[in-house]
Amino acid sequence: MGDQKHDKVKIKVCVGSHCKDKKSKKIARRLEDWVLAFGLEDKMRVTRCDCLKRCKEAAVVVVPARDLVFEKAKPGDAEKIVKAVSE
Ligand code: FES
Repeated sequence: MGDQKHDKVKIKVCVGSHCKDKKSKKIARRLEDWVLAFGLEDKMRVTRCDCLKRCKEAAVVVVPARDLVFEKAKPGDAEKIVKAVSE
């Protein structure tokens, strides 16, 4: 087991062109807002990544450490995503 403080769970938001068209940058900002709102900034961190090869399901958010994949995500899903990751 790693030291939790140094092992923040990464929420990766695809900002490839297809996902960007589906507002993924806004999704990333909303995710950051909710991480702060829930006081989870020591536990998780939002990162942007290149195309995840799931463009048909844009926008795509993945959390490899939790085996979670969110497809067709929308900015309004950010709260739900952060909650799911924190469980
Ligand atoms: S652009 Fe996001 S999965 Fe391809």
